[in-house]
Amino acid sequence: MSSPTTVPQTAAFGTVIAGTMAVATSRNGRFEHAEVVPTAPLALDPAAHALHYGSVCFEGLKAHRGHDDVVRLFRADRHVDRLRRSAELLCLPVPDRELVIDMLVRLVRANLAEVPAPPGALYLRPVLLGTDANIGAAAAPSQDALLYALASPVGDYFRADGPALRLAIETELPRTTPQFGQVKSGANYAMALGVIGRARADHGADQVLFAPGGDVQETGAANFLLLDDDRVVTKAIDGSFLHGVTRESVLTVAADLGYEVEERDLDVEEVLAWAAHGEMALAGTAAVLAGVGALVHNGCEVQVGDGSPGPNTERLRTALLAVQRGQAPDPRGWTTMVSASSRGSDEGRSPRAAAGTDLLGASQRS
Ligand SMILES: Cc1ncc(COP(=O)(O)O)c(C=O)c1O
Repeated sequence: MSSPTTVPQTAAFGTVIAGTMAVATSRNGRFEHAEVVPTAPLALDPAAHALHYGSVCFEGLKAHRGHDDVVRLFRADRHVDRLRRSAELLCLPVPDRELVIDMLVRLVRANLAEVPAPPGALYLRPVLLGTDANIGAAAAPSQDALLYALASPVGDYFRADGPALRLAIETELPRTTPQFGQVKSGANYAMALGVIGRARADHGADQVLFAPGGDVQETGAANFLLLDDDRVVTKAIDGSFLHGVTRESVLTVAADLGYEVEERDLDVEEVLAWAAHGEMALAGTAAVLAGVGALVHNGCEVQVGDGSPGPNTERLRTALLAVQRGQAPDPRGWTTMVSASSRGSDEGRSPRAAAGTDLLGASQRS
């Protein structure tokens, strides 16, 4: 059965892990077909490259259960492209696109009963790490690697009906090093932890908006957008920040709805001035599109709009979720159907790819 689970609102995002995971290993750069196995501790050599030299990257994407009960993966291809780019920049073996997509589709299918009803989703976490057992390989890439993916039934990361977010602006320290901003590697998050922890303790901030030297980049776990009735403005793609799939999707949906989309540099002065008349939001797989209600800059609080998520943020969030949950047309094939509706007689047996992309081709054959 694929009856939806209910994620307890008390369970923190990412703390509940589904019973089945997917694993693929590589030998000399070639990955073997992934296996779907019970979730269990990994057997890792204590000399593994990733544990010493940080050769590890990951992804985060979601499968959504629609109101029609169909489970759809959202933009798996873009997340897999980013995983492959991260692997390349970390000199890890790069898995084939089809292999990873197939692995993710099979992972969702194996955990169908764990996909919560909206507003929950099944969050998928593929991880790629270098496994060469060699503590002398500081200057040599790992030839062997392990790719595995976990599934986690999640609720809202930021509650949709919760208060708008409070961001502390950091103008000195960057989130990460400029050449690794676009890599989804754990070290980037570790580097930001101290700054985020201090902003929480000192200013009650939910997150930090990194703007080194005044250049507004992103927060510790999501991209940053300015919105008003006519425009959506965000930093143009460069190597300094993570190129969010949600960011890209929101910009596309916004353009479809008639907003003018501006991708360009933003400085702190413009952001502070925008607070008087416009809206701000964080875009990310976990955050979806979460409204910002206040900024803290040089110890002073600046309210954004009336302090609650704005109507344009709500409008775009609703439009994005409608595509993810199959309530709106998906002309670009962003979603991949992983299950048919359990209301039909073919439940769990015959995945259909009617309106989604053809990503399922490989896995339908397996
Ligand atoms: C640092 C950072 N920026 C941006 C994002 C948004 O990326 P995406 O929309 O692909 O989830 C994330 C989400 O994981 C993130 O961790």
